[in-house]
Amino acid sequence: MSLTIFITICYIISSVLFIIGLKRMSSVVSARKANQLSAVGMLIAIVATLLTSGLMEWQWIVFGLAVGTAIGILAAVKVVMTSMPQMVGLLNGSGGLASFIVGWSAYHYQPGASLLTTISTYLAILIGGVTFTGSFVAWAKLEEKFVTGKPILFAGQKIVNSLLLGALVVGGIVFCAHPVDNYPLFAVIMVLSLILGVLVVIPIGGADMPVVISLLNSYSGMAGAATGFVIINSLLIVAGSLVGASGIILTKIMCKAMNRSLANVLFSGFGSVVKKEKTDVKGEAKPISAKDAYYVLEAARSVVFVPGYGMAVAQAQHAVRELGKILENNGAEVRYAIHPVAGRMPGHMNVLLAEADVPYDQLFEMDAINPVIDTIDVAVVIGANDVVNPAARHDKSSPIYGMPIINVDKAKTVFVLKRSMRAGFAGIENELFYFDNTRMLFGDAKESVQALIAEFKSV
Ligand code: TAP
Repeated sequence: MSLTIFITICYIISSVLFIIGLKRMSSVVSARKANQLSAVGMLIAIVATLLTSGLMEWQWIVFGLAVGTAIGILAAVKVVMTSMPQMVGLLNGSGGLASFIVGWSAYHYQPGASLLTTISTYLAILIGGVTFTGSFVAWAKLEEKFVTGKPILFAGQKIVNSLLLGALVVGGIVFCAHPVDNYPLFAVIMVLSLILGVLVVIPIGGADMPVVISLLNSYSGMAGAATGFVIINSLLIVAGSLVGASGIILTKIMCKAMNRSLANVLFSGFGSVVKKEKTDVKGEAKPISAKDAYYVLEAARSVVFVPGYGMAVAQAQHAVRELGKILENNGAEVRYAIHPVAGRMPGHMNVLLAEADVPYDQLFEMDAINPVIDTIDVAVVIGANDVVNPAARHDKSSPIYGMPIINVDKAKTVFVLKRSMRAGFAGIENELFYFDNTRMLFGDAKESVQALIAEFKSV
């Protein structure tokens, strides 16, 4: 078998492993194996690429493999779950930068390439550049480093961005028509692409960043696919297209779950003004002590936990699982209801609950729990706010109007575990807190759950 055929077979195996890996990512049960499959696919791809180079440059590839593996292992061990969107942002940025550099070197060493290669080079520079700086700004906003997490808006912003994009399109057409001896225009395209990445992300609020990161993930895939055409690597085209398509699908799913359009996420400056909209609900929120909450839970026959961003912040998942087991031993049916955008990234709650070994058959999607929620004795809301706000069902003036929610207010009793009456991501008041069947258990979620556990253990 010739080397070329062997490498082609390796690339086909890698592509198949990527596709199967991606498919299996759609279920929490198979996601771990799916990741391993894709990693094996990537290893085969790297080895095949090593062989393509005729082993002449193997030192650099092995060096890159070793450095990349070391950084990957370090990051996987060190990065906390709540910082995962930032981590993904940095990974996307690296992908964009890699495409940007490959595009640059392709033109630098071969300025008179074919039209297809020139167009691909231009796209790798444009999309790679936007992805690189855009991802960096997204990371900085989430970390609140160098830049505020709030949307940065200025007069004429959309016009400036449109002009910049227009200049890049016109510049790209001229460049592709006359690539030879056109380094200055190429350099301008490179710089403008980097600037565009910054300008399109700064008007978006930090809390919307997970959606933007998912979109940038898609861009990094598209830049990779364009780079695949530049260096004529079929696997890069396949892998880039898979990332590009899955990123855009995920972006769409996230927008749908928040009942917002992508345009609204990208251009509305959501979160620039902290909305403190009053609800029509009159009355006082009713606090409850851990001891009194225990009496109700002790008598409950069915309990549903509804986790949200606060559970991630408090890292309360292990305590929640322990309380779940105690309630089961006490004869209650225990379920965990997961809203698709609870937390700050897709699957955020699934990952945390899986980490705490919550059995998969106790996890219920929003659409599965809502039809039976009125049969539940106690709904325990742990650091969730927007995803259980009934205003989404009826208040047309609310920014979350139309977003599907978990209807915990229909359970017989609702306990809300949070530290204060403060709003969540959408910055709005939650009428649930004032309902007759709701009791507020104030405090850090982990401490409150531990206090409940202590009550059960004290008898
Ligand atoms: P939020 O509405 O953001 O509410 C989280 C609540 O957790 C806060 O009200 C906060 O209240 C409480 N909290 C924070 N730290 C806590 C702690 N240590 N102990 C106890 N409570 C704590 O969260 P949610 O209900 O999960 O909704 C998610 C929101 O994010 C939605 O609006 C969604 O659209 C948005 N979003 C989600 C995603 C994805 S993909 N998940 C992406 C972008 C945007 P206190 O300060 O009073 O404690």
